[in-house]
Amino acid sequence: MKLEVAGLTKCYGKTQALDGLSLSVKSARVLVLIGPSGGGKSTLLRVLGGLEIPDSGKVEINGRPLLTHPESLQSYRQKNGFLFQQFNLFPHLTALRNISLPLEKVHSHSPAEAQSIAELALKRFGLLDHAGKLPAQLSGGQQQRVGIARAVAHQPEILFLDEPTSALDPEMTAEVLDLIQELAESGQDII
Ligand SMILES: Nc1ncnc2c1ncn2[C@@H]1O[C@H](COP(=O)(O)OP(=O)(O)OP(=O)(O)O)[C@@H](O)[C@H]1O
Ligand SMILES: [Mg+2]
Repeated sequence: MKLEVAGLTKCYGKTQALDGLSLSVKSARVLVLIGPSGGGKSTLLRVLGGLEIPDSGKVEINGRPLLTHPESLQSYRQKNGFLFQQFNLFPHLTALRNISLPLEKVHSHSPAEAQSIAELALKRFGLLDHAGKLPAQLSGGQQQRVGIARAVAHQPEILFLDEPTSALDPEMTAEVLDLIQELAESGQDII
């Protein structure tokens, strides 16, 4: 990915989360943001992913300006994948349905197509045995892996991860990190 950020600012009330941030990345597969708690990493990630509108500044990703009117933002978000600290799976839907529902509703696949793409995504990450389980019937690591399968099922241009292992114990962290590494090696751009 290629990234140009210039003079980015974002305030929440009196809190200045981003204060004139500029950043130039000519070519990267994986970009990691490191900094102190409250330093603005999640805010920057959300701005880059089109989930948050900055107060001022410019963002260009892969040579295209990030536009902030609602229709552009909506189609930009659809092209990307997201995974956060909390698992954010729908608690009343099976692992398979958690993946197939957005493929139908957001990405306009037919139910049959959505189901087969979702099955492929679960299979790719060794989760097919869990397809019919609800999130509460899965370990934290398994839930987060389902979350990753959902985030990449539509082949996102960029996958945005915000501390995806911080709620997991060390053993489960390892299984999620292995999966993220495999994605990076397969060519997925990740921030
Ligand atoms: N929705 C919000 N409303 C009000 N203030 C916010 C909001 N989101 C973030 N902030 C504030 O903006 C600043 C930057 O927060 P941000 O979440 O980007 O930090 P971070 O670097 O991701 O921190 P951490 O490592 O703890 O996740 C903090 O002072 C935070 O309190
Ligand atoms: Mg954060």
